[in-house]
Amino acid sequence: MSDNRPIGVFDSGLGGLCAVNYLRKLLPYENIVYLGDTGRVPYGTKSRETIIEYARDDVRFLLSKNVKTIVAACGTVSSVALDVIKQETFVSMTGIVEGAVSEAIRSTENGVIAVIGTSATISSGVFEKKLYESGAKRVVSQACPLLVPLVECGFTGKDNDVAKRVCDSYLGTVRASGADTLILGCTHFPLLSDVISKVLPGVLLIDPAKQTARLVEKTVDPTDRKTPGKTEYFVTDDALGFSEAANIFLGDGVKIRAEKVNL
Ligand code: DGL
Repeated sequence: MSDNRPIGVFDSGLGGLCAVNYLRKLLPYENIVYLGDTGRVPYGTKSRETIIEYARDDVRFLLSKNVKTIVAACGTVSSVALDVIKQETFVSMTGIVEGAVSEAIRSTENGVIAVIGTSATISSGVFEKKLYESGAKRVVSQACPLLVPLVECGFTGKDNDVAKRVCDSYLGTVRASGADTLILGCTHFPLLSDVISKVLPGVLLIDPAKQTARLVEKTVDPTDRKTPGKTEYFVTDDALGFSEAANIFLGDGVKIRAEKVNL
């Protein structure tokens, strides 16, 4: 069956653009509506109640754009709020946990898997629970809240000293655990892959946005259009600032225009 409605993607801010990137590559004919709740970011330091309330607003907005499916590209929403929000929503929803967990289980050789994310993601214990249910021998989790502002300030180069020291300090427990696979359970962390690989040589890094886009590709009713799809961007704070900062996630030279909305 074909379905020409757009795919909705949301995140607390900029980071969900990584998922948009992968979706664009895998599903080039689909239209996408992206919402970044930049007025209320970060979600990762908020309580469960607040994250659920924010996610509800985000989903309501995307539904008003007549989307056929919704991708919660945010690690925090996927871990903390998705179970509740899914039950209230009449279109299908995909978060970042499922695809990342399957890929980590498929990839690990020694069964020891580590996961890093925001404070809310790690306190939820959702990755840990799903990894154990899927057969992991041991799971090590570590909240890395400082990595989010590091990425947003552009401290991502593999020789960036500050990024290296922060990653080194957070990832000591992961190194000591002997994990051979690490889930980057937050939208921003894949941008630090080079630094993390320096700190944890030989550890396989799982980028959930990639796995999530693959899941969406498998499950969505595709459009029957054969012309390149368009992406519309909406934010809840300064649209110009978002459009400029989007390059960090979409790559240099990619120009977008965002529109400010109230949820
Ligand atoms: N998008 C969030 C996540 O993936 C990171 C930023 C935030 O804390 O809102 O968890």
